[in-house]
Amino acid sequence: MAENKEEVKYYRLEELKQHNSGSSAWINIHNKIYDVTKFLEEHPGGEEVLKEQAGGDASEAFDDVGHSIDAKEMTKKYLIGELHPDDRAAFEMPKEPPIIVVESEASWLYSWIIPAIAGLTVAFLYRLYATDH
Ligand code: HEM
Repeated sequence: MAENKEEVKYYRLEELKQHNSGSSAWINIHNKIYDVTKFLEEHPGGEEVLKEQAGGDASEAFDDVGHSIDAKEMTKKYLIGELHPDDRAAFEMPKEPPIIVVESEASWLYSWIIPAIAGLTVAFLYRLYATDH
């Protein structure tokens, strides 16, 4: 019976952490582990940025750059496995709290009453000035 399905190789966080230098650089991007040791010198963004992330989570840094589709395709070349499911929580981002807009009385005051008073004052002063001359 042929076994077509490729088995995923899982790496523990402890192992990832050990590959944190120029001589062996692994990075985690969205729970996938990449060995970028041979890519360091070729990386268009420079080797320093990769070395900084080596042995840790580069998901946010990778996304923030807005890498091209080509760059995303290129990552496949360096994929060696996945982060062990039990270790994924370490890099999971805390959920952003929802932004609650509170319509307070103060905001109503500032957005309507104060500009209205300012407008009326200007109109009044203008009339005063216009009738005096
Ligand atoms: C296997 C992982 C990676 C691959 C294959 C890769 C590939 C590339 C490629 C092809 C570019 C050229 C621009 C583009 O096509 O988007 C690029 C630029 C860049 N990358 Fe990466 N990259 C990887 C990981 C990272 C990481 C983890 C960081 C951040 C820590 C990073 C930071 C940058 C920066 C700063 C640029 C320069 C962007 C610019 O000049 O506009 N890259 N990368």
